[in-house]
Amino acid sequence: MASQKVEDGGKILIVEDEESVADVMEMYIETEFDNEIIFAKSGNEAIEILKKDHDIVLVLSDYTMEDGNGRVLYRFLKESSLDPAFILVCAEDNIDPADMPEFMELFENRSELPFLTKPFNKEELVKIVSDFLKTKIELLSESYSPISADRFLIFKEMPVQAFMKMTGLGKYLPVFNKGAEVHEEDFKKYIDKGIQYLFIKKEEYEDFIKVSNEHLGLKLGVEASDSEENKSKLEEQVFLQFHSIEGIHRALRDLGIKETTIELADRFYKTILSNLKRSPKMASILGKLVTKKNYLYQLGILTSYLSVAILEKTEINNNENSERLVTASICQDISLDNTELAKIVDIENQSFKDLPFDTKEQVLTHPIRSAQLLVDQGIFSSETANIIREHHERPDGTGFPRNLDSSNLGELSCIFIIAHHFSHRLLTEPLSADTLGSINNELKEKFSQGNFEKPYEGFIQSFKS
Ligand SMILES: [Fe+2]
Repeated sequence: MASQKVEDGGKILIVEDEESVADVMEMYIETEFDNEIIFAKSGNEAIEILKKDHDIVLVLSDYTMEDGNGRVLYRFLKESSLDPAFILVCAEDNIDPADMPEFMELFENRSELPFLTKPFNKEELVKIVSDFLKTKIELLSESYSPISADRFLIFKEMPVQAFMKMTGLGKYLPVFNKGAEVHEEDFKKYIDKGIQYLFIKKEEYEDFIKVSNEHLGLKLGVEASDSEENKSKLEEQVFLQFHSIEGIHRALRDLGIKETTIELADRFYKTILSNLKRSPKMASILGKLVTKKNYLYQLGILTSYLSVAILEKTEINNNENSERLVTASICQDISLDNTELAKIVDIENQSFKDLPFDTKEQVLTHPIRSAQLLVDQGIFSSETANIIREHHERPDGTGFPRNLDSSNLGELSCIFIIAHHFSHRLLTEPLSADTLGSINNELKEKFSQGNFEKPYEGFIQSFKS
């Protein structure tokens, strides 16, 4: 069958308690679509995911499940303001819509029925997913453009009129007029209700993005030049979100990274992740990471993008080095199963000193153990393993495990360490102009000497595009 890739960036949520069925669905979908696939084993688990993750565009749900069935899940979606397409997956003996009045709405005005019967073959699954994703995209692309609701918070007054989409009606209701004062609590109301996007008229989209970018004034290179005008622009609180790849892309764009760099890094990230997953052990470790969407997952993506962006501005830029940096980004902490331990970057800190001996050992040895895990899986490049071993070393020799410093760390490791340190701070501190300023100063003071000099220059350059 010809490829039917639908590149809308949204995720597909598979809700299925039988692992073998979920595996088959994943296999069929991932060969035809680029959408990220996530899983829930019950309706209630899916509800929890949907409350937090607003990038889901399609839900494929089993009907019969122990902890919240398909009906519970569909009712939740109907009552919330979330609007993913919903496809019910039933065993052949329980698909009579007449027996399930609460699903009737799903069947109205549809040329294709939104349910799939088990057992299904690949063509049936791909067709229904394709039809519903396309419907979804068409709905969104009529004459309004979605803008993440939190993006309006950077303005003091609305630069354009904003609308809310009426679920199921295909209508847009004006909710904020152009020029109206922006109060955080007004937007929080929508965000708390699960409304991720407000809409603006398509013809105003380009202007909106221009004003938005000017207003942010966030490009790091510019900020480092510390003119009074730029400083005052940075007084605004900035809200960057890292919970999804889309959010990370947006954040990097806001920080001034070039679109083409993000695309390039994204390609490396996706290819390397799927190559790594060919090893069953890695597939299991990375699968859990991707599902949890926690600090480790976000750190892996952010470090990948930033290290590729820095590399691009150095003389050692080539595909092999990009692959090494991205592999190291994804695998740096695979020997740690505790996210909190991965967040420890300063062993002089009292919170580290207070840890039990064994836990300290886990932290101190994880760079070496992560590298070894890769080597054991036969995914071995000495350069990649080396970057991982050195990812917690710091220019002044205060890092671990070997207290190396800027005179004996190689350029690839230096690039990685800057990307890692910057990503770590972005992910662990409330992001404001102050935080960005402090990160900038720290990098300038501590990460610009010795072998860090060129990577630091590359770092600054990559935000000046
Ligand atoms: Fe680490």
